[in-house]
Amino acid sequence: MDPQSVLMHQAMLADRPRMRAYDRALEQAVGPGDVVVDVGAGALALSMLALRHGAGHVYAVEADPDLVAVAEAIVRDNDLKGRITVVQADARVVRLPRKADVVVAELIGNLGPEEDMMGAVGSVARRWLVPGGRVVPRGLATRLAAIEFDQEGWGLWGDDFLGYRMSAVQQLVAPAAQLHFFQRHPRLLSEPVLAEGLRPGGPPWSGRLRIAEPGTLHAVIGYFTVDLADGVTLTNFPSYPGCNWAVWVWPVRHTGVAVDTELSVRLHSPRGRRQGRVATDWWLECGLVGRGAD
Ligand SMILES: C[S@@+](CC[C@H](N)C(=O)[O-])C[C@H]1O[C@@H](n2cnc3c(N)ncnc32)[C@H](O)[C@@H]1O
Repeated sequence: MDPQSVLMHQAMLADRPRMRAYDRALEQAVGPGDVVVDVGAGALALSMLALRHGAGHVYAVEADPDLVAVAEAIVRDNDLKGRITVVQADARVVRLPRKADVVVAELIGNLGPEEDMMGAVGSVARRWLVPGGRVVPRGLATRLAAIEFDQEGWGLWGDDFLGYRMSAVQQLVAPAAQLHFFQRHPRLLSEPVLAEGLRPGGPPWSGRLRIAEPGTLHAVIGYFTVDLADGVTLTNFPSYPGCNWAVWVWPVRHTGVAVDTELSVRLHSPRGRRQGRVATDWWLECGLVGRGAD
């Protein structure tokens, strides 16, 4: 198992709000003796939660052969052979020995859609879920918003760092997405706007962000919210202690903006080998339109 992958799974398993949210969702979704499919099972955290809530059997589907070996070792070490079956496959084409009552997945990227969770879950549910079966999560939404940082991140490259101008940096870096864990809540200059229909390798999404608070525009952020079950949602914005997902940030030249200025945005998923799986490969075209730009 490569060290990067170990680190990722450590961070996911240690993210308590994530684990708590899935625990609460599976408590609602899983009934005694249910058959569950864990899509992208990794180190089996969600399979274990399903067992905790009474699942009779879990099919743990994982595409990465290194993680399959890890999952099989965990099954062996815990004598779970009769309760968890590890299946090495891409979930979108997996064949299972029987239908399931519940499909669960956590394939959430920093921006949201990078691993096409809803596509994979939908494909498994269409083929393998019994009528009336439950799916966790029920939906994933990505929202974009215009922000002004509070003395951190890209907001530092302005006109007052220890009394000195640092704005030269803004001219000297190539435009690229950043991943940021917020230590302080930024000012939201616009209402967040839903970017519907994003999928890796899919067409760009276009929309407008209307400035509702005057300030200095530093960046456009992108973050996800997942609907796991009744009253159970999970989001990576605002950042919370232990959150394993950073917020996607598209830095722009610091610009004073007035109320009713509009920012036109077009969010692109890369095509090709990595096909949008990496958040920092996604990019934004944006420009100010309308009245009120300083
Ligand atoms: C974010 S991790 C989640 C692991 C585990 N379910 C958890 O919640 O701790 C996503 C896992 O899904 C696997 N994965 C991603 N896409 C997949 C697919 N289409 N089919 C099967 N596994 C997939 C990855 O290899 C990775 O192990």
